[in-house]
Amino acid sequence: MNKVLVSLLLTLGITGLAHAAGDAKAGQAKAAVCGACHGPDGNSAAPNFPKLAGQGERYLLKQLHDIKSGNRQVLEMTGLLTNLSDQDLADIAAYFSSQSGSVGAADPKLVARGEALFRGGKLEEGMPACTGCHSPNGAGNAAAGFPHLGGQHAQYVAKQLTDFREGNRTNDGDSMIMRAIAAKLSNKDIEAVSSYIQGLH
Ligand code: HEC
Ligand code: HEC
Repeated sequence: MNKVLVSLLLTLGITGLAHAAGDAKAGQAKAAVCGACHGPDGNSAAPNFPKLAGQGERYLLKQLHDIKSGNRQVLEMTGLLTNLSDQDLADIAAYFSSQSGSVGAADPKLVARGEALFRGGKLEEGMPACTGCHSPNGAGNAAAGFPHLGGQHAQYVAKQLTDFREGNRTNDGDSMIMRAIAAKLSNKDIEAVSSYIQGLH
């Protein structure tokens, strides 16, 4: 692993929110309103709504705090989290994390390019492989808060990578790790790696 990546991992590992213990059973009832878009078990049907099932609890909780505070803007969720307490958010994160995520399929025409980027990065441009943080099978690293990507809708993944690249999503912390990575990705790279991720498990 290169030195930049190691120091980023260390920085990311020691920052992050204190972890309130969530109760998945209590979270299920509190998550009822979320099911309309994200699916009752967190496997959303529409490709622009992210799957939450099986996502790491720490990552989910961070996103919920970021969305609630406006640090990450999700217009569709405006006002939805306002009246939820820290405990409610922790319970909801625990619930979706405890569900199992479904997997889609990659476009066979895009697999070679997508796989090369995911597993090899663009080392000549200083862009590390995705596997270093999101793991070879896309499971992420729940303890470190690196999100699970495998099986996620390609359309949603592509939007996130584009948003990081254009500076429309900025909640990746002071290290700006995902903004730095997305800056090295062309539109065609994003299309290929997102399709690859949709079929990855
Ligand atoms: C009207 C539809 C809608 C509803 C209802 C909704 N969401 Fe969302 N949610 C979205 C959309 C759209 C996004 C992704 C926005 C983007 O493209 O960045 C999102 C993103 C998220 C994310 C970030 C996922 C990730 O992988 O980073 C979390 C977590 C989340 N929602 C949780 C919830 C919870 C919990 C509820 C219920 C309290 C809820 N949402 C209700 C539409 C909705
Ligand atoms: C050094 C670690 C690291 C590397 C390497 C890395 N990521 Fe990430 N990635 C992260 C972290 C941390 C986040 C969560 C940022 C936050 O808290 O919002 C993230 C978030 C994401 C998200 C948003 C997930 C969601 O559900 O909204 C996508 C998509 C993503 N990364 C794709 C990639 C791809 C594709 C690559 C390789 C080209 C890559 N990442 C390489 C650390 C990394």
